[in-house]
Amino acid sequence: MYDVETIRKDFPILSREVNGAPLVYFDNGASAQKPHAVINAVTQAYSMEYANVHRGLHFLSNLATEKYEAVRGTIARFLNAASEDEIVMNTGTTEGINMVSYGWAAPRMQAGDEIVLSVMEHHANIVPWHFLRERQGVVLKWVDTDATGWLDPQKVIDAIGPKTKLVAVTHLSNVLGTVVDVKTIVEAAHEKGVPVLVDGSQAAVHMPLDMQDLGADFYTITGHKLYGPSGSGAIYVKKERLAEMRPFMGGGDMIREVSKDAVSWADPPMKFEAGTPGIVSMIGLGVALDYMMALGMENIAAHEAALRDYAVVKLAGLNWLNLQGTAPDKAAIFSFTLEGAAHAHDISTVLDKKGVAVRAGHHCAGPLMDHLGLTATCRASLGLYNTTQEIDVLVDALELCHELFA
Ligand code: ALA
Repeated sequence: MYDVETIRKDFPILSREVNGAPLVYFDNGASAQKPHAVINAVTQAYSMEYANVHRGLHFLSNLATEKYEAVRGTIARFLNAASEDEIVMNTGTTEGINMVSYGWAAPRMQAGDEIVLSVMEHHANIVPWHFLRERQGVVLKWVDTDATGWLDPQKVIDAIGPKTKLVAVTHLSNVLGTVVDVKTIVEAAHEKGVPVLVDGSQAAVHMPLDMQDLGADFYTITGHKLYGPSGSGAIYVKKERLAEMRPFMGGGDMIREVSKDAVSWADPPMKFEAGTPGIVSMIGLGVALDYMMALGMENIAAHEAALRDYAVVKLAGLNWLNLQGTAPDKAAIFSFTLEGAAHAHDISTVLDKKGVAVRAGHHCAGPLMDHLGLTATCRASLGLYNTTQEIDVLVDALELCHELFA
């Protein structure tokens, strides 16, 4: 049984106060809090088990290598990848997408080639493609959402033309919580011979994933949103695409041989992991993923769906609140503005005085803000440890904002 009160005790920070009020942490979309298991694993790794990986023959280096490499298997299980060789470990989604942009897309795209994107993308899945637009004349083709924030997969499929070389879409909007039907997009894109990159930075936190079923060519995850340490993450790359990809960064660990005149690469995935990696962050991420899998991704999804349903009803009662994103089966992520008043930053400041942490701003989603006709929203993004009582605290704090600013 999913006992949220017991789960909350695993997260030390949830028992603290902020501005004299119990912390209500609703900024999980930006970064999630860490359970004791992760904090202890990081402490243990640095206290008793630390050395560089893949380099030494001594006891501690072997131990650290074993622990670090075991995480590749944990990530493969979490994503149900066909092989752990399809997992490139990195610092998160931004690095993963840049790797694909530099290592896979840049060498095979000419001026006039197209990349299809949704208007809901995070800047991490926009800016690396703008680099290609600026440097190589690649064309970015944008697909809009409807008024509820839903992305019609058929519109994405229809945008794929003879010059399309890649579709790059989010699986779950960090602003609206919309879940995208990427499986349908992947199937149709593949029929047209076009690979698909999926930004899974938000989705991986909220739903069970199965790479073998989804079929995407590239799928990125971000450790610090997955209750793991910052600076950890991974990208799943389908075997065929791995074979096509050039290394993105050069340095130690990713080579087979280096001489004055020549260099040859290690086999994937090592070919894509230059330099000393985030050893301890990755060990912490492995523990975080084990923690989530022990709770059960289906159970986490069910808990968060109940929170979403509760919040939808409560927030609908505030008729001066403009809620952005009402697509069915969305995640428990709520972006809003207050009618006729207060900038999102002011709302966030008042909420903070009541102990409620939310994000305010453009959420690294400029094209979506333009599409919505807004410059900023407040965003409450919920996670596996949040409760309906905390939603009540948010609603009370919003009532106060309304009184202050209306
Ligand atoms: N991508 C993170 C967010 O949505 C930082 O807040």
